[in-house]
Amino acid sequence: MYRLIYKSRSILVEVTEETLKEILETSTDLNRKFKITGALIATRTHFLQVLEGNFKDLNRTFFRITSDPRHEDLELVSFGPVENRLFEGWVMKGFGIFDVDPELDSSLKNKFGVEEGGVRLPTQEWAALSLMHDVGVIVQ
Ligand SMILES: Cc1cc2nc3c(=O)[nH]c(=O)nc-3n(C[C@H](O)[C@H](O)[C@H](O)COP(=O)(O)O)c2cc1C
Repeated sequence: MYRLIYKSRSILVEVTEETLKEILETSTDLNRKFKITGALIATRTHFLQVLEGNFKDLNRTFFRITSDPRHEDLELVSFGPVENRLFEGWVMKGFGIFDVDPELDSSLKNKFGVEEGGVRLPTQEWAALSLMHDVGVIVQ
């Protein structure tokens, strides 16, 4: 089992719930087919995604995602072997950090910093997983 995390910038002026929904819809069937699980976090400007699966299918999925014109400036945060899935049972869990409760918004901004008015999506693995935990997509 392998886990891959990357960050990217949306080409859209403003990412919305609708954008996130569209991406998750395109991903569901393929992820199910290749047994890919994970989570996709979005701010108004950026994406942070965790993908888990076997080496070959994870590689293929990632390279398909890298050529998607809906985002740019991809940064690979981490890629390596892991013992277990963190997102067992989830094809792809989506979470938009835009219309969140102001208390959560300010605590995330304090911890991770600010980027273009939203929460800065981290490019260190521990911080990326910590953010996923803070917003509730990782429950362990
Ligand atoms: C931020 C973002 C996350 C995505 N996540 C996935 C994913 O988890 N799995 C997937 O198969 N496609 C994902 N996609 C969509 C792929 O880029 C691609 O459109 C899709 O896999 C279909 O590939 P195809 O157009 O080559 O047939 C994502 C796209 C974006 C912009």
